[in-house]
Formats: sequence, structure tokens, C-alpha cells
Amino acid sequence: MEIIVTTDYEEMSDRAAEIVIAEIRAKPNLVLGLATGSTPEGLYARLVKAHREQGLDFSRLTTFNLDEYVGLAPDHEQSYRYFMNRHLFDHINIRKDNTHLPDGLARDLGRYCRRYEQMIREAGGIDLQVLGIGRDGHLGFNEPGTSLASRTQLVALAPETIEDNSRFFRSKDQVPRFAITMGIQSILEARRCLLLASGASKATALKGCIEGPITSMLTASALQLHPNAVVIADEAAASKLERLDYYRWVQEARSEIAHRL
Ligand code: PGA
Repeated sequence: MEIIVTTDYEEMSDRAAEIVIAEIRAKPNLVLGLATGSTPEGLYARLVKAHREQGLDFSRLTTFNLDEYVGLAPDHEQSYRYFMNRHLFDHINIRKDNTHLPDGLARDLGRYCRRYEQMIREAGGIDLQVLGIGRDGHLGFNEPGTSLASRTQLVALAPETIEDNSRFFRSKDQVPRFAITMGIQSILEARRCLLLASGASKATALKGCIEGPITSMLTASALQLHPNAVVIADEAAASKLERLDYYRWVQEARSEIAHRL
């Protein structure tokens, strides 16, 4: 894992945007995996800016989002489709047909989940997957106890996640109880993973993710098995890492030999 520690949220978002923009420039038909939540909002704002000011071209991009609530229509203000349109898709030149989120209104959910996996395969697999991390260490909605070999599936949200996400709803009982999420195995198949973490509330989860042990009780720890994972964390999120000094040292060493990497 490459670990980049930044002073704050803004710098975390800058560094994430540099990576995503470089990948889009290198491969205009990139298959990009996306995440919702407060964490990637700064990244998406920077992608929109790069489109407006530098003409960054999204016309050949395909995207797949990690997850979606079951039961919310795409125009529901709390659906993840609505979030993605509002923060990114409505402001760039992407073809909406090329943007995919799980369909929380699908009738046969089991069959639909298999179809979502198939769509990812047909697109050639995900080149770069953007990830956030939950307080309980989840990736997507892969809550503690989920198999690390899981694929896209219907899941029941954990009480902590319902609590965390209730801030976006009028009351806690309006938060959907179920979601469709890409599985841990589906995420590990992305060619590169980019996990973002900000704030002290993520510090314990991030320590588990990076410094182990690998366990289904903290599904983000499975990223340790990924050969090309980058973590960008601000100081507050990184504050509990035991090997923090070492990660900083590696980053400095990398910048010295960057021209040869
Ligand atoms: P957040 O959510 O970005 O809103 O903190 C992250 C997550 O739960 O995966």
C-alpha cells in the first residue's frame, strides 16, 4: 500500500484529484469506480473544475458506483444516483448512459446483482476504484462480518451506518435498511484502488485498514491484499497509525527518486 498523509481535507482532495486526472489523461476511456459520501466531494469538485478550466474530457469514460440504497428512486434527494448527478455527472461531459449505479428499484435483486458484475466485466473491469471508509471500517456497504470473498449483493445496513447516514434524512427511520453494494472481491479486482480518509472519526478504522489484521470484521483491511492500493489520509485520520513516521519517510524517499519511478 502506498500511504500519503496530508495536512487536511483540502490537500487530501488535491492529491486524489491529481491521481484521477492523470489516469484519465493517460487513458481517456478509463473505467472509473466511484464512491459517494462526504469524503469524495472535494475530489469531485476538483474534477469539475479541471473539466471547466482545462477541458478535461470525460466523453469516453465509463463509471461504476460502489453502492445504492434499496427502495429510493433515482430522483430521490438521498439516492446515490442523485448525489452523483449533483456533485459530478451534471457538470462534466460524461454520457449518462456510461454512468452506472446499482438499481435500488430492481425487482429481482439477486439477478440484478449478478448483472451488475457482468456489466463491469463487459466494460473491461475497473481501472481505478475510488473508496471511502466507514467508521466501522466498511468499504461500500460491506459491513463488519461480510465475507472478504463477497461480490455485488443485497445487504442489510448495520445500525452504526444507519445512525451515521441519518444526518442526511429527516429522521432515522427514513434511512433505508437495505442496499446493493459491490463486494470486497469485486473491489479487489479493480486494477488500482484509491482510498480517501478524513477526520478523527476515521482514525481507528484507518488503522485497522492499513495495519491489520486482515479480517472480515473490518472489511477495508482486505485492501492489504491489493497489489496497487493508494491511501490518502489527512493528519486527523492518520493520527492512530503506528508506523506514521515510516509512511512519511517512504513518501519523502519516493519524491527523491520520482523521476525514475
Ligand atoms: P463518508 O462515508 O465519506 O460520508 O464519511 C464514507 C463511508 O461510509 O464509506
